[in-house]
Amino acid sequence: MNRIPEDQGGASAKKPLTPATRLVTGGRDPFAQHGFVNTPIYRGSTVLYRNTEDFLQRKAKFTYGTKGTPTTDSLEVAWTDLTGAAGTVLVPSGLAAISIALLCCLKSGDHLLVPDSVYRPTRNFCDSVLKRFGVETTYYDPLLGTDITRAFKPNTRAVFTEAPGSLSFEMQDIPAIAKAAHARDIVVLMDNTWATPLFFSSHAKGVDIAIDAGTKYLSGASDLLLGLVSANERCWKDLRATFDTMAICAGPEDVFLALRGLRSMRVRLLHQQESGLAVARWLAARPEVARVLHPALESDPGHAIWKRDFTGASSLFSIVLKPMPDAAAHAFINALTLFGIGASWGGFESLAIPFDCTPFRTATKWVPGGPAIRFHIGLEDVGDLTADLEKGFAAMRNVEGYAADGV
Ligand SMILES: Cc1ncc(COP(=O)(O)O)c(C=O)c1O
Repeated sequence: MNRIPEDQGGASAKKPLTPATRLVTGGRDPFAQHGFVNTPIYRGSTVLYRNTEDFLQRKAKFTYGTKGTPTTDSLEVAWTDLTGAAGTVLVPSGLAAISIALLCCLKSGDHLLVPDSVYRPTRNFCDSVLKRFGVETTYYDPLLGTDITRAFKPNTRAVFTEAPGSLSFEMQDIPAIAKAAHARDIVVLMDNTWATPLFFSSHAKGVDIAIDAGTKYLSGASDLLLGLVSANERCWKDLRATFDTMAICAGPEDVFLALRGLRSMRVRLLHQQESGLAVARWLAARPEVARVLHPALESDPGHAIWKRDFTGASSLFSIVLKPMPDAAAHAFINALTLFGIGASWGGFESLAIPFDCTPFRTATKWVPGGPAIRFHIGLEDVGDLTADLEKGFAAMRNVEGYAADGV
């Protein structure tokens, strides 16, 4: 029964396991836990040593609460195995993961490239903390592939990537960017939260430091905050040293809940992928909708890259409505009963929010032509969700001034 395969410390398996199995076996050692299936929640600051000699040499697997416990070790081992990284650190949020990833590879005087479509708080971190510490950030068009070289300066130290882009879903050519960056010894970082390691193997595609907001699909329940940063051999030492120095460590309950989420993450994602695509296709056929921004749809400009590099799609996407007042889009969302109005996605519940990228684009222009809405599709029945959306469209039509082209 629960013997751990050889490549995770056990004695049975010879050939590498598939991700589906790794999600179940990764980071578990039941007989180190008296036979219980899951690693329990270890809470603690002090770690006791048997004698002064051991204390002085820190001779123990776990040396201090901030540096790790058997609980955090379980998730770190499982995530490292899943991502094919050299190591992983766990921090208290996705944004903390982005911050520590950037801090571990940058210093004063360095230049950083960040896609214009990046998660907005990442931009805020670059424009405030990094700027204050002497790191210059240039925002680039996320559609640049090999041409990213044109943005390189002699002091460019890192290129940040995120695919697809937050809210607007531009696909980035990560292998092309990584190849260009590595030719100049530039570090490549990626926020891989949308795809997770299950649908995009970031390290295999050239990413040195990968970030996942475990708050989203790893949790799957909107009940925790967590960030995971994995690094390849090139960057692991610097990442771990920065983590140990700053002690921005994740809470034990959140890590335990994330371990629970990990075991079912693939099943949920596969289901949400299908539901997300079904709702996206349904929306694409509506007369009120101008465009659906979802890279797994054949009509999406990023579809070819998605098909080449990704093995699946999660259930977060956006739509652009035909020209109409913002009030009509708001009435649509307000009329929905199965879609919550909230920012953090990846849970079992569906969400819908209005958005406008105009105020935070500097390298590109956001001119959608109509109000935009981001959807997250949860685990509800697709028929129930589309029936709810029908009600939203009915409410939209009742707003004064509503007159979408062709409707
Ligand atoms: C793409 C992306 N990365 C990172 C984060 C940050 O995660 P957290 O909310 O855990 O800070 C988010 C949150 O919405 C996100 O959408």
